[in-house]
Amino acid sequence: MTSVRTVIIGTGNSVGNHLSAIKKLGDRVNLVAAVDLDAARVQAVCAENDIPRWYADTSTMLATEQPELVCIITPPATHKALIIECLEAGAWVYCEKPLCASLAEYDEIAAAEDRTGCYVSTVFQWRFGSAAKHVKRLVEQNGLGRPLVGVCNTLWYRDQDYYRAPWRGKWATEIGGPTATLGIHLMDLFLWLMGDWSEVRAMTGTLDRSIEVEDVSMALARFENGAMGSIVNSVLSPRQESYLRLDFQQATVEVSTLYRYNNDHWSFTMPDKAVNPTAAANWQALTDNIPSGHDVQLGEILDSMARGERPPVSGDDARRILEFIASLYKSAQSGLPVHHGDIRPGDPFYYAMNGAPLVMEQP
Ligand SMILES: NC(=O)c1ccc[n+]([C@@H]2O[C@H](COP(=O)([O-])OP(=O)(O)OC[C@H]3O[C@@H](n4cnc5c(N)ncnc54)[C@H](O)[C@@H]3O)[C@@H](O)[C@H]2O)c1
Repeated sequence: MTSVRTVIIGTGNSVGNHLSAIKKLGDRVNLVAAVDLDAARVQAVCAENDIPRWYADTSTMLATEQPELVCIITPPATHKALIIECLEAGAWVYCEKPLCASLAEYDEIAAAEDRTGCYVSTVFQWRFGSAAKHVKRLVEQNGLGRPLVGVCNTLWYRDQDYYRAPWRGKWATEIGGPTATLGIHLMDLFLWLMGDWSEVRAMTGTLDRSIEVEDVSMALARFENGAMGSIVNSVLSPRQESYLRLDFQQATVEVSTLYRYNNDHWSFTMPDKAVNPTAAANWQALTDNIPSGHDVQLGEILDSMARGERPPVSGDDARRILEFIASLYKSAQSGLPVHHGDIRPGDPFYYAMNGAPLVMEQP
C-alpha cells in the first residue's frame, strides 16, 4: 500500500474535520505540509498536529513538496484559482464546498481536469454514511417504488457574530447565504437521491441579519421523474435541524439530525394498511452503521487515485448542485421558474450566483 503525499491549504475553523479524517486513514495518507496566508496560524496547527512543514503561499509549497493530493479548506471565492494551480502542478484535489463561485468557474476547473488528467472532488460528506448509500442503492434498484414527494430543510441558527469573519455574508467572498454554504450539503444529498431536477421556483429574503446575502431561502423543485420537493435553507431558526424526507410509493424515509448522522438518525415508515414485505426487507438490508464523515469520502478518493479513475462527487456529479443553486437564485431574483439547462454562457447567473452583471447594468 502506498502512502499518498498530501498537503492541506487553509488551517482555519474547519481544518479539524480534515485532520481527523487523515488520522483515521492512517498510513494511507502522508501529510507532509500545510499552507495558510496566516503564518502564525499555520505554524501553530503544524506544531499541534506534527505536520513537518508549513508555507504561507501555495506556489512555493507546490514547487517544493510536489504533493499528490491537496485538501483545500479556504473561503469559497479562493477555491477556483487554488484548485487550478494544484491540478496544473499534478495534484488531485479534495476541496471544501461550495466548489467554486459560479458555473463559469466550474467549467474552467473542468477544462483544467481535462488538460491535466487530475481530478477534484467536492467535500459532501453527507453522501458517504452507510444509510445514505443504502437509500441511493434502493433508489437505483427501485426497492421502495418511485420517489414522489421530498422535503429538504436546513434550519440552522447563525447569529450576527458568525458574520464577523470578513469573508462571510458577502456575494463576492461567501458566494451566497445559507443556500450556497450551509443547505448545500442536504440539497446535494436530496438531488443525488431524488434524481435529475428539471425545474425550480424560489424566494429568498434577508429578514434579520445585517448581510448582503440572503438569510433564508425557500424553493419548490420538480424532478425529471415527476417527483416534487420543497426546500428551506435558513440561519434564523433557534431550534436547529437538518431534516430530509423522501416519500416513495411504498415507504417514507427520513433523517433528522444537525451536522452528521449514523443509522440511528434515519427512520423508515410504511402505510398502516399497505405494508410491503419486500420494501421492508429491502430497508432492513441496511446492516453497516458507518457515520457520515470526511474520512469515508477521502478514503474513496484514495481508492480512485489508485485506480486512476474519476473520484466520486466530481465532474457532472459535482456541477449538478452548483447549477441548482444558481437557478434557485435566478428564480428568486426574476420571480420566474428556471429549468435545468437554462443557465448557459451569456446568462448573468452563469458568471455569478447573484447574477451580478445583470444587477450592475440596471439604472
Ligand atoms: N464540509 C463541512 O462540513 C464544512 C464546515 C464548515 C466550513 N466548510 C467550508 O470550509 C471552508 C473554510 O471555512 P472555515 O470556516 O474553515 O474558514 P476560516 O475563515 O475559519 O479559515 C479559512 C482559512 O483559509 C486561509 N486562507 C484564505 N485564503 C487563502 C489562500 N489563498 N491561501 C492559503 N490560505 C488561505 C485563511 O487565512 C484562514 O486561515 C469554506 O469553503 C467552508 O464553506 C465546510
